[in-house]
Amino acid sequence: MTPEQVNLVQQSFAEVAPISEQAAALFYGRLFEVAPAVRSMFPDDMTEQRKKLMATLAVVVNGLTNLEAVLPAASALAKRHVSYGVKPEHYPVVGGALLWTLEKGLGDAWTSDTAAAWTAAYGTLSGYMISEAYGRSQAAE
Ligand code: HEM
Repeated sequence: MTPEQVNLVQQSFAEVAPISEQAAALFYGRLFEVAPAVRSMFPDDMTEQRKKLMATLAVVVNGLTNLEAVLPAASALAKRHVSYGVKPEHYPVVGGALLWTLEKGLGDAWTSDTAAAWTAAYGTLSGYMISEAYGRSQAAE
């Protein structure tokens, strides 16, 4: 990721922060619409899950300026996800729902540069998480 892309991701995330509860609800709504099979992996009551997701995204987004500092936590998170039943192929589905949510949440502020920056950020994070949890051979991207 270029420094400009890190800036774009951090600035656009700051814009959705005030509506993070709605953004998280939008995200899971979209995820369960495009991938209904994953619904049963999550608890019935998604209140806590929504908060955890947004809090973790905030840590990762802030950590983009000092990636080494967040990698141990990302590795541990990825390994916990194996026990939730998450497979490597779920990561692009989640990435798609995340980008869709940001596009909806940001409206006119969502540009092709913002999209490219988020694609790079999610690709870097998910590629790292997949290789940590399942081994490098699985991390195709
Ligand atoms: C960058 C990607 C992701 C981030 C930042 C993320 C974040 C989180 C966080 C913070 C938790 C709370 C529990 C914990 O910390 O261990 C969690 C739980 C969970 N995540 Fe993710 N996640 C990601 C990718 C995925 C993917 C690809 C799936 C696949 C569907 C998924 C499914 C789940 C499930 C099923 C739980 C457990 C819910 C429960 O039993 O309480 N996550 N995730």
